[in-house]
Amino acid sequence: MSRGAVLLTATVPAAACFACAKGRALPMTTLAPKSDLAEWIYHLFIQVTLWDALILVIVVTAFILAVFVFSSRVGEAAPPSSAASDLGLEIAWTVGPALILLMISIPTVRTIFRSQPRLVPAGSLVIKVTAHQWWWEFTYQDSGVMTADELHIPTGRPIRLHLLSNDVIHSFWVPQLGGKRDVVPGQMNELTLQAFVPGTYLGQCAEFCGLSHANMKFRVMVETPDQFATWQRSEQGAPAAANQNTSPAAIEGARIFANSPCTTCHRIDGVSKGYIGPDLTHFGSRTTLAGGVLSNTPANVAKWVTDPEAIKPGAQMPRLGLAGEQLNALVAYLESLK
Ligand code: CUA
Repeated sequence: MSRGAVLLTATVPAAACFACAKGRALPMTTLAPKSDLAEWIYHLFIQVTLWDALILVIVVTAFILAVFVFSSRVGEAAPPSSAASDLGLEIAWTVGPALILLMISIPTVRTIFRSQPRLVPAGSLVIKVTAHQWWWEFTYQDSGVMTADELHIPTGRPIRLHLLSNDVIHSFWVPQLGGKRDVVPGQMNELTLQAFVPGTYLGQCAEFCGLSHANMKFRVMVETPDQFATWQRSEQGAPAAANQNTSPAAIEGARIFANSPCTTCHRIDGVSKGYIGPDLTHFGSRTTLAGGVLSNTPANVAKWVTDPEAIKPGAQMPRLGLAGEQLNALVAYLESLK
């Protein structure tokens, strides 16, 4: 290996770690845990890495000794060893690896049991997570609130996620909060965690699930209990009714929506009962759309409605063929759904 390559292999991980240490520069890092689950996994990783480093030191030391101290040079008389076996050495290289495995397996098995409690912890907030090609649906068991691609949870309360898939195998992963846990059709998997620090954490489907697997992103908004309660209240029931502040475009958009094929796929409380696509009841209150790929702005909603396939290859949503005033009206209506 050239000196340049050695330098590169040493500097790149070091620089990456430094960036992690700086915090939010790497939103998909597992090295800045923000929940109990992520912290247990992080501590296990550090422990195993330290054992690995110790093994590396021992192997490299033995290697250097063998090459530079105990080897014979060219021309040097080197009598062959007459020993048929060395009991001491044989015991050492049997017991050594067994001890290493033990030191790694004890914390691993402990973390597995700790991170997968069979019983739902007392006071848990139970949320059903349904994976679809390619978006995430979240349903809160107690309040009945339904949302898509943006999971809101409070700090300091156990969160119990019931993971289900509507089609193929996906995997739920929020690097700073926990996972990965496979989301399998016909089987309910569970994930339990408690978040510590309010913030927005990025998630990503971590199991290849088709054309737009990479576009199956989501966000977890960790909030203080008060902020969460406020959010949950605002998401309950039908969206605010049209009043004198509602723009004429939004009122026209409501009419277009009610008479469009959108109603077959999308539910809006009090308006439509579709269930194939995301619930749009409070669409205007979300920060993203299309599986977390686009930020929720009128221009992006228009772009998405005009040609979903261009943004998410394989998307099931058809083109609606709306343009001009009609498109603007529909977008104004969707954005008004707070
Ligand atoms: Cu869902 Cu990959």
